Amino acid sequence: MRKIKVFDTTLRDGEQSPGVNLTKEEKLAIAEQLSMLKVDVIEAGFPISSQGDFESVKTIAEKIRDVEIAALARANYKDIDCAWEAIQDAENPRIHVFIATSPIHMKYKLNMTPNQVIERAVDAVKYASKYTQNIEFSAEDASRSDLEFLYLIFEKVIQAGATVINVPDTVGYAIPQEFGTFIKKIKENTKGIDKVELSVHCHNDLGMATANTVAAVINGADQVEVAVNGIGERAGNSALEEVIMTFVTRKDFFKDIIVTQDTSQIIKLSTMVSNFTGMPVQPNKAIVGKNAFAHESGIHQDGLIKERTTYEIMDAKSIGLKNNSLVLGKHSGRHAFKEYLNASGYKVDEDTFEKLFNKFKNLADKKKNLSNADIDALISDEIYKV
Ligand code: KIV
Ligand code: ZN
Repeated sequence: MRKIKVFDTTLRDGEQSPGVNLTKEEKLAIAEQLSMLKVDVIEAGFPISSQGDFESVKTIAEKIRDVEIAALARANYKDIDCAWEAIQDAENPRIHVFIATSPIHMKYKLNMTPNQVIERAVDAVKYASKYTQNIEFSAEDASRSDLEFLYLIFEKVIQAGATVINVPDTVGYAIPQEFGTFIKKIKENTKGIDKVELSVHCHNDLGMATANTVAAVINGADQVEVAVNGIGERAGNSALEEVIMTFVTRKDFFKDIIVTQDTSQIIKLSTMVSNFTGMPVQPNKAIVGKNAFAHESGIHQDGLIKERTTYEIMDAKSIGLKNNSLVLGKHSGRHAFKEYLNASGYKVDEDTFEKLFNKFKNLADKKKNLSNADIDALISDEIYKV
C-alpha cells in the first residue's frame, strides 16, 4: 500500500492569487481547518516576502501540531535563515528551497549557467541542513527543463541533504500522459531518488493541473502539492478537493493508495477559503461548486429518486454537505415536482397536481432564474385561490 502525502499550499501559492491578502487570523483559521482535514504538510508562507507573512508563518508553526509546517525560501542564505526563524518552533518544520532549472529561466531570469545553478542549489540545501533534516528542493519550471539536467541536479541535492524532491509544472504546460512519463523517467534515472520522497506541484494554465497530478501519482509520485478550491498564481494550482476525491471515489482504480484525510471537512474548508480570499467558487466547480451535487433534468431526477448512484459518483455527505439537491427548472419532470410538493407539506389530488405541474412548466420555460419562492407562490396561488 502507498500513502500519498497531501502538501497544501493554499497559504503560500494560493495567497499569490492576484488580489488576495489574508490576515494572520484568517491564515491561522485556515491552517486549523487544514489540520482538521488531516493534510500532511501545510506550506504556511514565504517568510522573507513580508513581515506580515513572517509573522503568520511563525504563529502557525507555534500553534498547529500534528502537521508538518513548511516555509518557502529561494536558494540563498538570507531566505533560508528567515524561513527557519519562522518555523523553528513547529513540531516538524520543513524548509522548502527552490531555484529555476529550465533553460528559459536560467538564461533570462537568473542569468546563470546550468553549472552555477547546480552549485547554488547544492550550497543552499547544505546550508539548510544545518537547521533541519526535513528539506524539500523544488526545480522551478521543471516541466520545461532538460531531463538529463534534472537527473543531475536532483542527484546532487539529494547528496547534499534534500529529503523531498519536488517537480513543479510551474506554468501549467504539461499534458497528463507526458507528465506521467516525465515523473517515471525521473524515478528511474535519478541516483538516490529511492531514498527520498518525490513530489509534484501542478498549475492549471491549460486546465490540467489535477489530471497531471493524478498522472504523476500513477507513475510513482509520493506527494501532491495542492490548494483549496484550486486557487494560486494565474489559473491556480491543482485543487485539493479534486485530487483527494479522485483517490477516494476511484478506489477501484487506486487500489494501492491509502487516503488518510477526513473528507467530511472539505466543504467547510472550501467555504472558509472562498470567504476569506474573496474568490467565489464557480457554480460548476468539481466537488465544491454549488451545482456539483444539484440535479435539474427530469431524467436525472427520476433516476436519482429511484437510486442515488444512477447519477452521482460521490455522496454529498462525504464532503460534509447535508445532502444533494434536486433543482426545479424547465428540464424537471413530474417526479421531482411531486417530491417538492411532498417535502413542502402539500397534499393535492391528481387534478390539482396536473394543473400545478403545467403552470410550473410554463413559468420555468419563461423565467431565467427560477427560485423556490417563485414555485411556492405559484402553488399557493392555485391552492388558495378563491
Ligand atoms: O510553481 C512553482 O514552481 C512554485 C515553486 C516555488 C514550488 O510554486
Ligand atoms: Zn506554484
